[in-house]
Amino acid sequence: MKKSANSATRPHAIQFLIFFFVFINYLCSRTEAAAATSTQELLLGFKATPNPSVSSFQSLLNDTTDTFSLGFLRVNSNQLALAVIHLPSSKPLWLANSTQLAPWSDRIELSFNGSLVISGPHSRVFWSTTRAEGQRVVILNTSNLQIQKLDDPLSVVWQSFDFPTDTLVENQNFTSTMSLVSSNGLYLMRLGSNFIGLYAKFNDKSEQIYWRHRALEAKADIVEGKGPIYVRVNSDGFLGTYQVGNNVPVDVEAFNNFQRNSSGLLTLRLEQDGNLKGHYWDGTNWVLNYQAISDACQLPSPCGSYSLCKQSGCSCLDNRTDYSSSGECFASTSGDFCSEDKSRFRVLRRKGVELPFKELIRYEMTSYLEQCEDLCQNNCSCWGALYNNASGSGFCYMLDYPIQTLLGAGDVSKLGYFKLREDAGKRKLNTGIAAGIGILGGALLILIGVILFGGYKIWTRRRANRILEAEDGVSPGPYKNLGSASFRSIEMCNAPR
Ligand SMILES: *[C@@H]1O[C@H](CO)[C@@H](O)[C@H](O)[C@H]1NC(C)=O
Ligand SMILES: *[C@@H]1O[C@H](CO)[C@@H](O)[C@H](O)[C@H]1NC(C)=O
Ligand SMILES: *[C@@H]1O[C@H](CO)[C@@H](O)[C@H](O)[C@H]1NC(C)=O
Ligand SMILES: *[C@@H]1O[C@H](CO)[C@@H](O)[C@H](O)[C@H]1NC(C)=O
Ligand SMILES: *[C@@H]1O[C@H](CO)[C@@H](O)[C@H](O)[C@H]1NC(C)=O
Ligand SMILES: *[C@@H]1O[C@H](CO)[C@@H](O)[C@H](O)[C@H]1NC(C)=O
Ligand SMILES: *[C@@H]1O[C@H](CO)[C@@H](O)[C@H](O)[C@H]1NC(C)=O
Ligand SMILES: *[C@@H]1O[C@H](CO)[C@@H](O)[C@H](O)[C@H]1NC(C)=O
Ligand SMILES: *[C@@H]1O[C@H](CO)[C@@H](O)[C@H](O)[C@H]1NC(C)=O
Repeated sequence: MKKSANSATRPHAIQFLIFFFVFINYLCSRTEAAAATSTQELLLGFKATPNPSVSSFQSLLNDTTDTFSLGFLRVNSNQLALAVIHLPSSKPLWLANSTQLAPWSDRIELSFNGSLVISGPHSRVFWSTTRAEGQRVVILNTSNLQIQKLDDPLSVVWQSFDFPTDTLVENQNFTSTMSLVSSNGLYLMRLGSNFIGLYAKFNDKSEQIYWRHRALEAKADIVEGKGPIYVRVNSDGFLGTYQVGNNVPVDVEAFNNFQRNSSGLLTLRLEQDGNLKGHYWDGTNWVLNYQAISDACQLPSPCGSYSLCKQSGCSCLDNRTDYSSSGECFASTSGDFCSEDKSRFRVLRRKGVELPFKELIRYEMTSYLEQCEDLCQNNCSCWGALYNNASGSGFCYMLDYPIQTLLGAGDVSKLGYFKLREDAGKRKLNTGIAAGIGILGGALLILIGVILFGGYKIWTRRRANRILEAEDGVSPGPYKNLGSASFRSIEMCNAPR
């Protein structure tokens, strides 16, 4: 009897085990499926805080193809930017332009109440979209982040494509009211009435245009009074310039893969060196596709202040200063010589120098070199002048920003006159003295370093909270401080995939 009872229960046990494993398997497959579906819309009431353990990017919302993601991007190690990144490459395509970055702290919150808002304690708002009555947030498969109202038809109340950062993606319209700003805040792209312009902010007060691409108007003319122009990176591999209301481009700036079928995403970015570069994503890499300025010496400042660019490399305008030892000639400076405390300067002259983008620089005609120099010497907003006496013509170019990189020209009829702040040269000491001071200073620094290190560790730990607790809000700096560090930090880490 016992034996038969045993034989009767064994099949049940086996059945149960089979059922059990099937059930566990089913549960697992369900959780796997749940993990595989990503968040593709944010609805009213959504809230998120940054996770302290995330080192680079915390994803909050994806597009339907899981190619683009909105999330918190860690910048400058302890600050937070809201960003749309390209997931396969971790490259940021858009950043919320807040005048002040929020700290990476769990007291910071992103919420959606019709507008997207980044806020901190005491209802402090770090960034928000314009007040909008939106009902959901999505990312389109173009990387465009949209706040939508679910009317019929659906309406868009805000979109990131209207607020570009330093990058334009394929099919994004860039209009005459927008600007691209390089991540270091130094360079800008804007549209004129019939051209695309790149501008450098070498000085607080003025902008110098260094690249101007005028529309060729081959296929269509710009009709005056018919509206401003806008540009768009076309999937066919070109940067098209259009006039509002006309779908025929007034200019076509071809990329390397012009009219070659490429399915990869095209982007155009204003780089930190001031160049405008096009890339496409080939599935594993961003492939360079276009650059506005192909000669490195024609970039706005490839070698820094008071330098000279030649095919062979960088050197200094002042031949007593060695470029190779420090990678610069003089620390960059700004302003002018108009206020009394800043009016002192010494003069540096150099033969055989030429201006980059000189067709975009203001000039006067003078008969003599001395007249040209006088014009600059007597004008406190002038930083330098270049006299070109080729065939006795007498072009006198005037620079109203601190001297950047000049070109070496064999032609000695091109003469440069440059003002140098009195204190600018002091930084470059005689190398012998510098070495002595260096050794002494080094010893002192090590001592100070040891003392500071302990303090620094405590400081960094407390910093995020301190920023929050400050009553009137400290100001860690303008948009440009988002700068290089943000991009470096994200490019260094691997794709989340
Ligand atoms: C977006 O997609 C990535 C990669 O598939 C994934 O790691 C991430 O969790 C997704 N984000 C959301 C919010 O679903
Ligand atoms: C959403 O929150 C922000 C910041 O707290 C506030 O200024 C705004 O009025 C709110 N919008 C709505 C529709 O409540
Ligand atoms: C993007 O979405 C549109 C419609 O919303 C669709 O027609 C198009 O094929 C999609 N593109 C990709 C690359 O998925
Ligand atoms: C960000 O905002 C500041 C002022 O609010 C503006 O000057 C700057 O041009 C903006 N940057 C971009 C990329 O639009
Ligand atoms: C860009 O502009 C064109 C023409 O005005 C328009 O048809 C298109 O929808 C716009 N694209 C986006 C993404 O706004
Ligand atoms: C591009 O694709 C179209 C259709 O997919 C095809 O007809 C054409 O031949 C292709 N062109 C090139 C240059 O590959
Ligand atoms: C530096 O320039 C000055 C004046 O242009 C010239 O006299 C001198 O020989 C140059 N020195 C060197 C080392 O090239
Ligand atoms: C400029 O050219 C004229 C005519 O060729 C010549 O007389 C004059 O000396 C030159 N001036 C300078 C500063 O080289
Ligand atoms: C001085 O230079 C500035 C900028 O280069 C220019 O706008 C101004 O007209 C000049 N002033 C005189 C008196 O030439």
